[in-house]
Amino acid sequence: MKNPDIKSMFDTIAGGYDFQNRFLSLWIDMWWRKRMVNSLEQNNAGLILDMATGTAEIAMKIAQRRPRTKVFGGDFSPNMLRIGMRKVQKRGLANRIKMFIADARRLPFREAQFDAVTIAFGIRNIKEREKTLKEFYTVLKPGGQIIIMEFGFPRAPLVGRLYQFYFNRILPRVGDTISRTGYAYTYLADSVHAFPKEKVFVKMMEEAGFRGVRIRKLTLGIAVLFTAEK
Ligand SMILES: C[S@@+](CC[C@H](N)C(=O)[O-])C[C@H]1O[C@@H](n2cnc3c(N)ncnc32)[C@H](O)[C@@H]1O
Repeated sequence: MKNPDIKSMFDTIAGGYDFQNRFLSLWIDMWWRKRMVNSLEQNNAGLILDMATGTAEIAMKIAQRRPRTKVFGGDFSPNMLRIGMRKVQKRGLANRIKMFIADARRLPFREAQFDAVTIAFGIRNIKEREKTLKEFYTVLKPGGQIIIMEFGFPRAPLVGRLYQFYFNRILPRVGDTISRTGYAYTYLADSVHAFPKEKVFVKMMEEAGFRGVRIRKLTLGIAVLFTAEK
């Protein structure tokens, strides 16, 4: 199943999403998220938009590490948001994280509202990436920062081959089974392969207006951080 309906897919897997992430990344995703949030450069105050926030992992980390920051966490999957909202409330962060339903391709905000925009493992799922990047650019304040995290592939020959084997053969089978969808992790692998090469994506960010685009590889390139400024 190459092109599932993305919103329904995340609505379906929402209940098991956090556990599957932890288990299938051997808990390394927690470290990637920490690195992402540590890459935020703005001072402690401010307003941050975490788009495709899902179950609010990044939004909560931002709020926990930056006690004077407010976060807007947006997603178009009601079930992912519901789980995120429950976690936010349980951790006493509801006064600092506002969760809302929205499509990243049409953001419900005026120009220059946010000090930073973050999106973790989200943009790969959005075909209209140029449009989405332009939306992010519009809602950022001048000088504001964008941080995008996506999956990549290690380049080192042996590790690269081993990882490709895990990623193409094992992860889809195990993931499709434990997510009880029969397709969600096959889609994950396909979508990572279909994501533009780093250089192409950097160009796309620049064409949306961003400057100073930097790439940081995490865990030999299994995850990649793209940071830039408006
Ligand atoms: C792989 S999850 C990542 C969730 C979260 N950022 C994290 O790091 O765990 C991708 C999320 O993107 C959301 N998403 C995909 N396309 C979207 C769009 N066009 N607008 C808003 N959210 C979208 C999905 O609903 C899902 O919650």
